[in-house]
Amino acid sequence: MEYASSKSVESAMARAKWIGPRELDDPGAEAQPWRLFGRLVCTKHVRRAVAYVSFRGIGDLWVNGQRVGEETLAPGWLSYRHRMPVSILDIGDLLIEGRNTVGVDLADGWWRGRYGFDGGRSQIYGSDQSAIVHLSGTYVDGEAFTFNSDETWLAVPSPRTKAQLYTGEEYDARLDNPLWATNDYQPSDVFPVRVEKPDDNFVYVPSRAIKVLKEIRPVSITHEENGELLIDFGQNASARIEFIADLQDGEEITVRHAEILQQGKLYTRPLRRADAIDRFVGSGDGPRRFEPRFTVHGFRYASVTGATSRIDLDTLVMRVVGSPFEFTSSLETSNRLLNRLHANTQWSMRSNFVGIPTDCPQRDERLGWTGDIQVFGPAALTLGNCREFLSDWLVDVRNEQQELGTVPWYVPWIPPRAGQMANKKPASVWDDVAILLPWTLYQFSGDKTELEKHWDLIKSWADDLIKLAGDDHLWLENMQLGDWLDPSAPPEAPARGATDPQLVANAYSIYSLRIAQKIAETCGFSTYSERYGSASSAFKRAFNKRYVSPDGSMMSDSQTAYALALVFDLFETEDQRNQASARLANLVKENEYLIGTGFAGTPLILDALSNSGNLDAAYKLLEQTRCPSWLYPVTQGATTIWERWDAMQPNGKVNPGEMTSFNHYAFGAVVDWMYRVILGINSTTPGFSSIDIAPQPGGSLMHAQGHITTKFGEVHLSWRRESSKLFVQGRIPDGIKARLILPAGAPRILSPGDFQGETDLEF
Ligand code: BGC
Repeated sequence: MEYASSKSVESAMARAKWIGPRELDDPGAEAQPWRLFGRLVCTKHVRRAVAYVSFRGIGDLWVNGQRVGEETLAPGWLSYRHRMPVSILDIGDLLIEGRNTVGVDLADGWWRGRYGFDGGRSQIYGSDQSAIVHLSGTYVDGEAFTFNSDETWLAVPSPRTKAQLYTGEEYDARLDNPLWATNDYQPSDVFPVRVEKPDDNFVYVPSRAIKVLKEIRPVSITHEENGELLIDFGQNASARIEFIADLQDGEEITVRHAEILQQGKLYTRPLRRADAIDRFVGSGDGPRRFEPRFTVHGFRYASVTGATSRIDLDTLVMRVVGSPFEFTSSLETSNRLLNRLHANTQWSMRSNFVGIPTDCPQRDERLGWTGDIQVFGPAALTLGNCREFLSDWLVDVRNEQQELGTVPWYVPWIPPRAGQMANKKPASVWDDVAILLPWTLYQFSGDKTELEKHWDLIKSWADDLIKLAGDDHLWLENMQLGDWLDPSAPPEAPARGATDPQLVANAYSIYSLRIAQKIAETCGFSTYSERYGSASSAFKRAFNKRYVSPDGSMMSDSQTAYALALVFDLFETEDQRNQASARLANLVKENEYLIGTGFAGTPLILDALSNSGNLDAAYKLLEQTRCPSWLYPVTQGATTIWERWDAMQPNGKVNPGEMTSFNHYAFGAVVDWMYRVILGINSTTPGFSSIDIAPQPGGSLMHAQGHITTKFGEVHLSWRRESSKLFVQGRIPDGIKARLILPAGAPRILSPGDFQGETDLEF
């Protein structure tokens, strides 16, 4: 789009001014939402026009009585101190010859609202609510015109009397004016606006915009005796509830949200301080649509109280909100529980790609936790076209790294309140996102510019690792998150799992430095590839001395310790490696094929098994349905991936831990293995320019089919087992070099187009 170049964005925004209400009810607290409006005269018929808009807070643009565009919670959340996102909206057919009215609806959002755990803080970026608007258009005769937010605009309090991302929204129809943002809008109480010249680094990043993506109708509505409606939408998601109701003057409706029920009632403890309550007050003017705009909730169930009989139940809908990536792959197997695990992972990704990659969508958190997306990155890029979204978020990571001196645990960073832990210390697995996510982006895209673009981030974290470990090449910091949430960690101490957190940190550091070396090599930075290569080797020697015995046994006799060492290639001898593979297989068996890993080990454990001759154990672990396992939540009716293996415990009670989200994608990292090993599509050169089609059937699976989208097109594959035979067929797009590697027989080169194959299986 010609309008979208960074130069057009800069020059557009330079012409307008930030404007906002002068009076915010209480500068310290959560502010009431405001509206702003201005008038413009078009002297001729308009051929086309676009609006460049940004908000300090979140907002909607209105032109002549209509809300514009598909975005919501605009401008989304970037690290605003460094870059201010702009929306570009087509308003061509909304402007008329003569007088026009342009309005903005505003609320606190991330800029000013309360955000973060432990009470969070408000006014993270500023104490104002503001908007900046620049319209640029041409008349039918080709003459150009512009219109900008400036001191001529006016402010009015919004009928949304409260709107916060965590706590919810309140809307009073009696305070609304049906003529809002039309030419006839003439409110009596208007206020002048505060005006400020922009001094921001404006950017246009459509991949990080937030939109309403889908509508879900209730699967059940239960009418309780007291008039309450208990609604089940059948799907946990990031969303908002809308409905049409014919409320009398002053009648109210309250909507509460929860992910889970206990004893037939909403269970809201996991939300912590995110109340997630929306309230609507009617005006007696006939049926109207009630739709929260400036909040979002993570939920599956809702309780609706108040004048519920006035709601037109056919209009009740959950509107799913998120960033606009699409799912570009598919996978279906003969095990329907595995299929649901795949779907649940998609839903957790959808729910947590909302402007930034978040940990969870429901409680007072929803932060860009770096570890979560570090472990989920390969699964995310397998599932959907989210490269631009993630690559742009890494720009925020770099900006925060530069400002704070190291990679923060979550990005955007929220500076601590007085008295809160002030110094953030680097943490392994989480901060390794700086090296491992750019590498993952490169692996999936084959585009070296991903590495060059993020090189400063990569280099800076690699250098930090070297410094942190010092002359001993061991990073012995106590404050590590370790193998976060392994099932043996007590509910209140998620880092105290079965694997020594420092072992995890050092294993990860070796791997990250090795990847930094490969990145430097790929980019032709030979000094750095030597530096990181030799650091990685020195770390590996120190690791072996401290954590590995000559016989291959490890200091932490845990699934994660062996998985890390096997997948990250940390052993010094082949013999150690063999012993360790055997020990891991035994550990898994002794544990009756129940999972024993947390964030660090979960993405690796199945590769550790399947790459070392223990495919059978990998399938047993994956297909396990007892708790803890991947499929246990599925048997409990989960529609998303849970934060904890036992978020809902087998006794039917919600895990007592303070952090218990039912929508966290991290453990869904396993779908990456499912595509590579079950389906069998393996990229062997970055960007899928060469691939191995190598399905490894096992467990209960009788067939699997699916596809992956590459830049060359879709790779399709399906296989089925019939007694001792395996039949495979698929399609390879032009441009990809492919080999077919079946469990028995020699590899075969495949030409683009359809292919088939078969072999005997020795099961
Ligand atoms: C988040 C996690 C995160 C962790 C690290 C939690 O509260 O929800 O997903 O990575 O904290 O401390």
